Order: sequence, then structure tokens, then C-alpha cells
Amino acid sequence: MNRIARPGQRYPQVSEHTEETPSAAEDRDQLAPRAGLDHALAGELAELRDRDLLRGLREVESAQLPRVTLDGRELLLFCSNNYLGLACHPEVVEAARLATARWGASSVSSRLVSGHMTVHAELEDKIARWKNQEAALVFSTGYQANIGVISSLTGPGDLIVSDELNHASIIDGARLSKAATVVYRHNDIEDLERVLCENRGAGRVLVVTESVFSMDGDLAPLADISKACRRHGAWLMVDEAHGAGVFGERGAGLVQQLGLERQVQVHMGTMGKALGSFGAYVTGSRTLIDLLVNKARSIIFTTALPPSAAAAALAAIQVVEREPQRAAGLLARATSLALALREAGLEVPNADSQIIPVLLGDAARAVATADKLRAKGFYVAAIRPPTVARGTSRLRVSLMATHTSQEINALRDAIIDCALDDSADTNTAANNGARA
Ligand SMILES: Cc1ncc(COP(=O)(O)O)c(C=O)c1O
Repeated sequence: MNRIARPGQRYPQVSEHTEETPSAAEDRDQLAPRAGLDHALAGELAELRDRDLLRGLREVESAQLPRVTLDGRELLLFCSNNYLGLACHPEVVEAARLATARWGASSVSSRLVSGHMTVHAELEDKIARWKNQEAALVFSTGYQANIGVISSLTGPGDLIVSDELNHASIIDGARLSKAATVVYRHNDIEDLERVLCENRGAGRVLVVTESVFSMDGDLAPLADISKACRRHGAWLMVDEAHGAGVFGERGAGLVQQLGLERQVQVHMGTMGKALGSFGAYVTGSRTLIDLLVNKARSIIFTTALPPSAAAAALAAIQVVEREPQRAAGLLARATSLALALREAGLEVPNADSQIIPVLLGDAARAVATADKLRAKGFYVAAIRPPTVARGTSRLRVSLMATHTSQEINALRDAIIDCALDDSADTNTAANNGARA
């Protein structure tokens, strides 16, 4: 499982192509000394700055409510994934507080050592019932869930078929698995069919898609994807990071809404978005979960989720099930905002979810528009490459169920104002740093 390299050996998983022969290393020793770390890295950062791609951290000085404090100013927050407002919901916060008092601040060990606690077991039980599956397994983050699952289910000789807009954690999971990976055009069933037909000889075939795409907010045609998988004997994995909590009758996600619970073999979701907590889960058959417990390195070799996060997620699922009106209101208001922006002449490719992309093209324009919005009191993220493809930089507006209609209307007017203003000062953007 944990392949050990002895002193003097290389880690077995390092690709032969990247290994250096001893003589290459000796030759290099004869050359000029390497640049110091800061000097080398400063060059990389300068290059990013020149291309308007430099990122930095912005410090939010208050809780993730519709109004946050940033640089001492109050701004309306429209780039959080706190879609249902549950991160600050009294029941969720109280559950985290009580769990910390009862179970301590940390799980302090990995799940397979002593870190698996009753609070995790209760959460997994709840998730499996919520998703109508046999069993569930909680991971410490969605990134870890995706890399762990994909690399456990596939390996050399197998095939991963991945939507071109899938999240980085899916891409990294595919890389880690060493299976062949073929990308199909975004949401394009014909292209998916083509890939499946052209790779009949592959061993296991795993098709992976998000249900609600994180940067575009559009929905995967899951019914058609699952039919294609059935026809070709492929397994289907759906990442519901942005669908769970918001879609489905009990908020269990788009797969549930479409009645595809039995057609999808691997259900993944996160708890750090609509559920307002932290961590992630995979749910499906008992066999799947038992295999992951034995094989997923990202659960075996990491500390278990803190009890507070597990308890908060459990409380959040109860609120989601009890109050479907939160998600319904959110989606209705998101659709009207998207349509209003489109009507005003902005490029808003879809109005399907709580995530509204406003396409602006080049990175400098996206950053300049976000800067102008911030100056007007609205915190909206500018999304640039490598998160999205070159030429598709955008504002990614995300609504919360706790925004008022007045706040959303004010945002609409401000976006129209700032994004359609051709005098967008791209120099301001280049000078400012800090965005996604
Ligand atoms: C589609 C998708 N999958 C997985 C993740 C990773 O989840 P986490 O933030 O819990 O690591 C994200 C997070 O942004 C996501 O958008």
C-alpha cells in the first residue's frame, strides 16, 4: 500500500521520464551555481504579474455573511460558496461548538488509527441515507476525496473519461491514477460516445463529471451521460460539490433530482459549500466504501476531519432537508439575475444555477471590472486562467439564500454599470493583485 523506498533508492512512483541519471547530475554540478530560491521565484511572479495573472490573498475580517468587512470597509459578498447561508446558521454553529466541547478540537489521527470517532460514523450514516446509498465515507476535503477515489478505482491499463471543464482535483486524481485520460468536449454526449467507442479495449472505464460546473454554473446532462455509460459498460462518478444542498427534493443533489441514484456508481460531494462546513464525502455501495478505506491514500495518510466540522455538516443536512425553500428561493433569484444581466447585453451563457458566469474575455478586463465593483461596495471574484481557459476570463457571481432582493438588484445595476463601461482601467487591475 505505502510503497517504501530504501535510502539511496528513488520513490517507485516517480516516472522514469523525470528521473535523472547520475551522470546528468554530475554534469550539472560542473555548471554555474543555481539561482537562489527568492531570485528564481521572483522571476516567476513577475511573469504572472505581466500577464495579469498574479494572485494574492484578500483578508476577510468578518464572518461569511452577505455583508463582509474587507480592508475595513463593508462590502456585499457575491463570491462565497456559502450558497444557503448555513456557515453562520445558529444550529450549524451550535453543533460545531457542542462537538468541540464534547469531542475536542481535533481528531488528531487518521481514520484508520484512532481518528474515526462516533461523530464521523453518525455523519456517514446520515449522508448515506440522505443520498439513498448503502454507505458513505467522509474525507477531509473535496480535493482529497477526488484524488483518492479516482486513483483507487483506476490504474495503468484503465481509462478515465473526463469533461473538459472538470475541477482541478479531478484532473489531479486522473494524473495520480496513471490510467489513460481522455477529455471530452464540455457536456457533449456525442463526443463522450466517440471517446467510449474509440477505447473499447481499455480495462476499467470511469467517466467523471461535475453535476453543476463550478465556474460556469451549468448542469451536466446526467441522464444522457448515464445512458452512454451503461451502453459502454463504464462506471459513472459525479462530483456534486456545487449541486448538493441546492438541487434535489431533499437537497441531495442533481443526481437525486433526476432520479439517477442507481445509475451513478460513485457520488462525491463537498461539505464546505452549501453545507457551510468543511470536508467532503463519497457515497455509493458498501463495497466501494470498503475498497476506499483500504486503498485511498488521501484518507489513509491524513488526519480525520475535525469533530466540529463533522457535527456542523450533520446539522446542515438536517436544515437542508427541513427547509427546501432556501434552495428554491436561491435558484429563482439567481435565474432572474442571470436573465437580467443577459438582457442588459452581457454574455451570461446560462441561467441554470446559483453560479452566474459573466464572460468578459481577457484577464485584465475581468480584474478591472472586479476592482470597480469592489470600489462600489460589491465583492465579486474575477476568474482567470488557469482556472478557466484563456479568453474566457469572467466574473463568477455566486448568490446566497440570505441575500435580500434589494442587495441582488443593487449588484445587478453595479455589474451592468462596471462591465459595460469600456473605460475599464486595466492599469488599475494590473496594479492591484489578489483575486482568484
Ligand atoms: C467541483 C469541485 N470539486 C471539488 C472541489 C474541492 O473541494 P474542497 O474545497 O472541499 O477541497 C471543489 C472546490 O472548489 C469543486 O469546485
